[in-house]
Amino acid sequence: MTRLSNGLISGADGMRFSGKAYLITGAARGIGEATALRLASEGAAIAAADLDGVGLDALAHSLQAQGARVFARTLDTRDSAATDAFVADALASLGRLDGAAPCAGIARAAPTEEMSDADFEGVLGVNLTGVFYTCRAVGRALLARDGGAIVNIASITAKGGQPGRANYAASKWGLVGLTKTLAVEWGHRGVRVNAVAPNGVDTPMIRDGIPQDFLNDVMLDRTPLGRLAKPEEVAAAIAFLLSDEAAYINGAVLQIDGGLTAGFLTHRHGADFARKSGGPNGA
Ligand SMILES: NC(=O)c1ccc[n+]([C@@H]2O[C@H](COP(=O)([O-])OP(=O)(O)OC[C@H]3O[C@@H](n4cnc5c(N)ncnc54)[C@H](O)[C@@H]3O)[C@@H](O)[C@H]2O)c1
Repeated sequence: MTRLSNGLISGADGMRFSGKAYLITGAARGIGEATALRLASEGAAIAAADLDGVGLDALAHSLQAQGARVFARTLDTRDSAATDAFVADALASLGRLDGAAPCAGIARAAPTEEMSDADFEGVLGVNLTGVFYTCRAVGRALLARDGGAIVNIASITAKGGQPGRANYAASKWGLVGLTKTLAVEWGHRGVRVNAVAPNGVDTPMIRDGIPQDFLNDVMLDRTPLGRLAKPEEVAAAIAFLLSDEAAYINGAVLQIDGGLTAGFLTHRHGADFARKSGGPNGA
């Protein structure tokens, strides 16, 4: 790590997290797994939590093969007391925590008039209440020392509404509110809280949960880059926001959407405005 003349730490040597430790929930697969591997590749110790013990074991082996220190244990992030205990044990095991990326999340799509109480409350429980428990437990630890950083995982669904996803959209809009509130509550005390807002990311959540025709005809068609994000591309943005390179970024929601929300009148196969109208002056 290199300290620059302006006092900032440079990540130029690729080891921005040497000597630091981060808690990742939902770490067994998808964005959480990619984030754990990315942070460890830059020197971090990892406290990894997930419901999926088999996936966690596989991750722990990969992290240890990279030479990382690991505390991995199953956790249901909906359980407040278990989350507090996880953080206390991670601190005891790794000696410190410098931040977190609460990546545990679920999706349960249904038309609103048919959505069950269980599907509404279930998604809110993991994507909002569970993230609150994680932020609160990690935040207490960070406030008790010299600060740190948290990056929550929102979604481009928190830019608008989406049919069939009343539960998911409500959870992600709520998560943005939580993120901004923590940013203004804790920023004065050295804890930065930001979020990333991905479009479709190529993980089991989207591969298992989204009909192929919706994926091709709507998501990819309207995404200027024409493809899903890789989990590693989201992990790279999370790592940036956790790092000292983002030292003045607090309360931000960074879109990682391939340009989806850059404009609304876009369509890969459809008419181009200029061609349709005979040029911008013909409109
Ligand atoms: N994949 C996408 O297209 C996409 C887009 C935008 C936002 N996101 C968000 O990113 C986050 C990660 O999504 P992903 O695509 O990696 O999903 P994923 O389904 O691939 O992985 C989620 C992980 O969370 C774990 N998990 C679920 N409930 C849990 C609980 N109660 N306690 C502990 N662990 C639990 C699962 O076991 C799984 O390992 C979620 O918040 C999701 O909403 C995903």
